[in-house]
Amino acid sequence: MEPLALYIHWPFCVSKCPYCDFNSHVRERVNHVIWKDALLLELQTASLTLKRPLTSIFFGGGTPSLMHPETVHALIETARVLFGFSPHIEITLETNPNSFETQRFFDFKKAGVNRLSIGIQSFEPEALKFLGRAHSLEEAYHALESAQKIFDRVSFDLIYARPHQTLKQWEKELNHALEFSPSHLSLYQLTFEEGTVFEKKLKRGEIKALNENLSSLLYEKTQEIMDHHLLPSYEVSNHAQKGQESRHNLCYWRYQDYIGIGPGAHGRITQDHAGKQEKYATQNLKLPEKWLASVQKEGHGLETKLLLEKEIVFEEALLMGIRLKEGISLEMLKNLSENHLTSLLARPSLKTLEQEGFIEKTSTHLKATSQARPILNAVLAYMM
Ligand SMILES: C[S@@+](CC[C@H](N)C(=O)[O-])C[C@H]1O[C@@H](n2cnc3c(N)ncnc32)[C@H](O)[C@@H]1O
Ligand code: SF4
Repeated sequence: MEPLALYIHWPFCVSKCPYCDFNSHVRERVNHVIWKDALLLELQTASLTLKRPLTSIFFGGGTPSLMHPETVHALIETARVLFGFSPHIEITLETNPNSFETQRFFDFKKAGVNRLSIGIQSFEPEALKFLGRAHSLEEAYHALESAQKIFDRVSFDLIYARPHQTLKQWEKELNHALEFSPSHLSLYQLTFEEGTVFEKKLKRGEIKALNENLSSLLYEKTQEIMDHHLLPSYEVSNHAQKGQESRHNLCYWRYQDYIGIGPGAHGRITQDHAGKQEKYATQNLKLPEKWLASVQKEGHGLETKLLLEKEIVFEEALLMGIRLKEGISLEMLKNLSENHLTSLLARPSLKTLEQEGFIEKTSTHLKATSQARPILNAVLAYMM
């Protein structure tokens, strides 16, 4: 049976980080009982349209580690009753390394979480300050150590290619991160997203992005170090030991079905439409208060539910799958649309990319080569 993933969004944070454009908000007070009831209600509504065993659940944010463990428990148990769980279901919770959250790790485990993803971001105190993080380096160490004691599967995030960062500094920081023997690491190059404080500072010339050549060098060094430590990238920014990849995120990149619950969450679900299997895109209301009011009134916080045209489905599958080292399954593309696949494979631009060593076609997959992955957007723009 096709995998089915469930994403649950918790939109609140203690403070807003200056680089972040995620759907995250700071509120003085959050009524946890009301929020728990609303998330449970939307979950129940979602189960009326699609019902098959879940392969993964991901609590993302915002800062879902601010949720009460009882809320996490109630959502997991309700999901189990409504959908059923496939064997070895992966249940991940994103956490910030503040001490308030670290002391709850054990309760999250009891609630059913079996994988933790920690936003460490940096092991340099100055960088934590620059990134506007609400945690100290000591808290980061404490969170990592506690998490690794309590959970079998722990991942953490780092942001690199920060202004003024040198190759030597990053090498040192990354090697220090590897001393914790992680089985999964997400390594993101800092981006200046529209509407963020960092983007405004960049425009005013108050901060400067790392130059492109140096960023590429950092990226290449990252791949070299991670390969050497048997944590190769399986996606542009994600590295794992064999078998430790995030099964939930793989669902997105392989363009499999997922349900999105909570403010701003989106989903992709396959449903029967006039006797044919069609893909729908769901998008929830972004503002927490609007989403909440809609759930209380309608039982869901949907803003739109669109039937996706074949062309869009094909393009989305391509855009997601090209990020993976394994590439995109040709069989999946054929099932989505044989005509579109035939026309893609006949494109002169694809042939040029193959000849220049940017794209590789095997008997089963179409993939970006290691030379193409750091410049994926440019490669895609040329191909499409
Ligand atoms: C949903 S976010 C944050 C999760 C959690 N609230 C935290 O801050 O630790 C997931 C990850 O995206 C990364 N991220 C967010 N904005 C970024 C940006 N502008 N550039 C690079 N990485 C970013 C961070 O590493 C972050 O941990
Ligand atoms: S990076 Fe994390 S903690 Fe910071 S604002 Fe974004 S979601 Fe919240």
